[in-house]
Amino acid sequence: MRLVVSNVVKKFGNLAAVDGCSIDLDKDGIYGLVGPNGSGKTTLFNVISGFLKPDEGEIMFGERRIGGKSPIAIAKLGIVRTFQLPRVFSNLTVEENLEASMFSGEQNNKINELMDVFNLKGIRNSLASKISFGQKKQLELARVLSMNPSLLLLDEPTSGLEPSLVKTTVDQIKYVREMGKSIFIIEHNMNVIMNLAEKIFVLHNGKKIAEGAPSEIKTDALVIEAYLGESSKKE
Ligand SMILES: Nc1ncnc2c1ncn2[C@@H]1O[C@H](COP(=O)(O)OP(=O)(O)OP(=O)(O)O)[C@@H](O)[C@H]1O
Ligand SMILES: [Mg+2]
Repeated sequence: MRLVVSNVVKKFGNLAAVDGCSIDLDKDGIYGLVGPNGSGKTTLFNVISGFLKPDEGEIMFGERRIGGKSPIAIAKLGIVRTFQLPRVFSNLTVEENLEASMFSGEQNNKINELMDVFNLKGIRNSLASKISFGQKKQLELARVLSMNPSLLLLDEPTSGLEPSLVKTTVDQIKYVREMGKSIFIIEHNMNVIMNLAEKIFVLHNGKKIAEGAPSEIKTDALVIEAYLGESSKKE
């Protein structure tokens, strides 16, 4: 389903973290969102997923206006998101986390399939507070998929993971796409995003400065300048 973000502004005090941003995911696929630290990527995901209300602009998902709706209302319409630091229900087991996230019951087959895909079978009875960071990231992916979304917003799904789990996660994201779902990913790992995304949007200071195929983005002068500017600031 088409997601159209039109001229969205989100301010924190005087700072426009998202500053008139327009993005069109016009067909099903895997899309990337990149940009230097603090460029507004997570804030944009928060606005799309209902965790923050936009100050200006509109967001359409299919025929419906979703700007300003609650996260649960937006999830029911088919958009779910993960967080930079995975959020799971700490006091529930892995399996209970998946059960709790489902909108309707009678889906044991689905829970088993998700546990297979995300390597959770062996820890199904472990409390989510006791599993490793990497396992929490896997559980969070399984948990949002259990909500049967049509569009997943993934905020840095590979950050903090060992290289072997990065590769596993990339394969899982491809598998999720094969299930017919669309994916919009924030990612700092350029190898990952270049490998996955069909189209990439670049944010800088809350504004979209470029969009295009990975090969176009790699050579875009504005993009290179935004990233070089960022790395020279850090030095
Ligand atoms: N709740 C908040 N209150 C005040 N300022 C915020 C809040 N959330 C984000 N900001 C600011 O908004 C700007 C954009 O932050 P955001 O987290 O969206 O960036 P990002 O592109 O996701 O960065 P990163 O790559 O580091 O995750 C930053 O200057 C940040 O400090
Ligand atoms: Mg972020």
